[in-house]
Amino acid sequence: MPSTALPALPCYLNGEYTLLPDAKVSVMDRGFIFGDGIYEVVPVYGRCLFRFEQHMARLERSLAELRIPNPHTRSQWRAIAEQLVADFARGTDEDPEKIEQMVYIQVTRGVAMRDHAMLPGLTPTVFVMTNTMKLPAERLRQDGVNCVTAEDFRWEKAHIKSTSLLGAVLARQISVDAGATETLMFRAGQLSEGASSNVWIVKDGVLLGPPRDNLVLEGIRYGLLEEICKTHGIPFELRSISRQEVLAADEVLLSSATKEVLPVTRIDGQPVGDGHPGPIYAQLYAGYQAAKLQARLRRPA
Ligand code: PDD
Repeated sequence: MPSTALPALPCYLNGEYTLLPDAKVSVMDRGFIFGDGIYEVVPVYGRCLFRFEQHMARLERSLAELRIPNPHTRSQWRAIAEQLVADFARGTDEDPEKIEQMVYIQVTRGVAMRDHAMLPGLTPTVFVMTNTMKLPAERLRQDGVNCVTAEDFRWEKAHIKSTSLLGAVLARQISVDAGATETLMFRAGQLSEGASSNVWIVKDGVLLGPPRDNLVLEGIRYGLLEEICKTHGIPFELRSISRQEVLAADEVLLSSATKEVLPVTRIDGQPVGDGHPGPIYAQLYAGYQAAKLQARLRRPA
């Protein structure tokens, strides 16, 4: 039996560039023992890190919430990510301009004997990897996806992009078991988010999303969709959204780094609106693709 079945993808661990099968951390890492860490998932299109500054700003916020010192400056983070993207491109036959990939960044509090207290002075563990990003198939964009609903049983600090993801794993499995794409979660009858995505509704031409508060992870696509709405003259509003409003919406959408923006056409077996992806989705998706192109054009040669 091979000791590992991990692919030989490039990664970075605590100052060293290596390959996934060779990257090893201590069993006493607080990420392993407590899930005491944070992460980011940054999409990369044609070697261009998409919305990197916004991802860095959220990484800084998450670290500050957990009182973990940020081990790198933004330019150091960028250099690590770009090095891995370049290493990845060298290891494939694909045209680098066409590769759609993601960079995963994780920082944990570090290694120490087990103690719930935060133990200041530890050296954070830094792990970064990259892989191709499998965007939703064209058929899902044409037909829309099927979702199920569930009570949001996660903790009340959902705004931290924490590696403690057991709530998300349990929530996602509800949709896996139901053969659905995502689990839409409600807390006391109000929409929060998906297991690993944000959820939006459209009513009478307005794009509505839950407020930026502690009950949802503010996806980097919050800011992006707001910008696209501005460009296309689509009214954009953040406020509490009831379960009834979701079920009576004209359109429902998911957004995340790996889904971009994706139409939901069935919830708990019932059609959303007329059961087909709607016109606001089409505009947001087109705006998203334009933003990707623009970011690549702005990239220094
Ligand atoms: N998930 N809400 C939750 C709970 C998430 O896990 C994610 C992203 C989002 C959307 O955030 P963004 O637009 O920045 O990707 C919202 C990532 C992709 C993941 O865990 O793999």
